[in-house]
Amino acid sequence: MTDLKGKTALVTGASKGMGRAIAQRLAGDGALVAVHYGRDAEAAKETVAAIEQAGGEAFPVRAEFGTDGDVRTLLTGLTAGLQGLSLDILVNNAACGNQETVRAGSVDRLTPEQFDEVFAINVKAPLFLVQAALPLMADGGRVVNISSLATRVALPYQIAYAMTKGALEVMSRTLANALGARGITVNTVSPGATDTDVTDTLRDPEIRTVLTGLTALGRIGRPADIADAVAFLASDDARWVTGNVIDATGGAYLGPMWAR
Ligand SMILES: NC(=O)c1ccc[n+]([C@@H]2O[C@H](COP(=O)([O-])OP(=O)(O)OC[C@H]3O[C@@H](n4cnc5c(N)ncnc54)[C@H](OP(=O)(O)O)[C@@H]3O)[C@@H](O)[C@H]2O)c1
Repeated sequence: MTDLKGKTALVTGASKGMGRAIAQRLAGDGALVAVHYGRDAEAAKETVAAIEQAGGEAFPVRAEFGTDGDVRTLLTGLTAGLQGLSLDILVNNAACGNQETVRAGSVDRLTPEQFDEVFAINVKAPLFLVQAALPLMADGGRVVNISSLATRVALPYQIAYAMTKGALEVMSRTLANALGARGITVNTVSPGATDTDVTDTLRDPEIRTVLTGLTALGRIGRPADIADAVAFLASDDARWVTGNVIDATGGAYLGPMWAR
């Protein structure tokens, strides 16, 4: 556990999956957490309830990325929930949950509309969220962006999604340089296949076996694996780490297994 007592955090896409695990971990470490969600208010309520049952503090904030005024709506809810406190930790975790857009994205089938949708949610929203949140952010704050193994391993059916994650990594490095003067660190955590709602393909035992076989640590990732990496970057222990990508894939696609 790291000590985040007295700190505040915003986790986007915290109604489920990794975002929920990140919100629970940061709240468990003592932070007051804004649980952002897009459409699933019930799931966001469950995240908040789980945090409160464990003795933590959280509140929900709704904003659907990719719609008009998305960032403004989020900031309004965030500011109200923080009640005058500044923001210490911003985790850009939400990403396009539209399976059609994420998966049907091979170069021969991708439509301009799908491209625009996935970029609006995965790149434009996080960038302008950072811009809007900066006046609320404390010096010495933390920004953590959630990328994907898809920037390191080429997945032809996800071209636009993978491109958004590449853009997010460039954004992280650039922001790290821009915000260093205020002591704000900006880093990226890059998960591989992780058991969440978005990865229904992982329910297929054959796919699980193949992916497990390509992973040095020999299993599929769990949301808590990612949350723990984020908690490190959010903590004081990571004060000298900025502009980095932490590969949290369990060593996926590192190289041949027959040689070990
Ligand atoms: N799971 C994996 O294997 C994997 C691998 C590599 C990287 N990642 C990355 O890890 C992050 C978390 O993924 P996950 O698997 O935990 O996803 P998930 O379980 O599908 O959860 C996605 C979250 O993002 C929110 N969201 C989606 N579209 C949104 C929109 N238009 N506006 C606002 N919020 C929106 C959802 O909110 P609502 O449901 O409330 O709308 C939900 O809270 C993402 O950045 C993803 O790209 C995942």
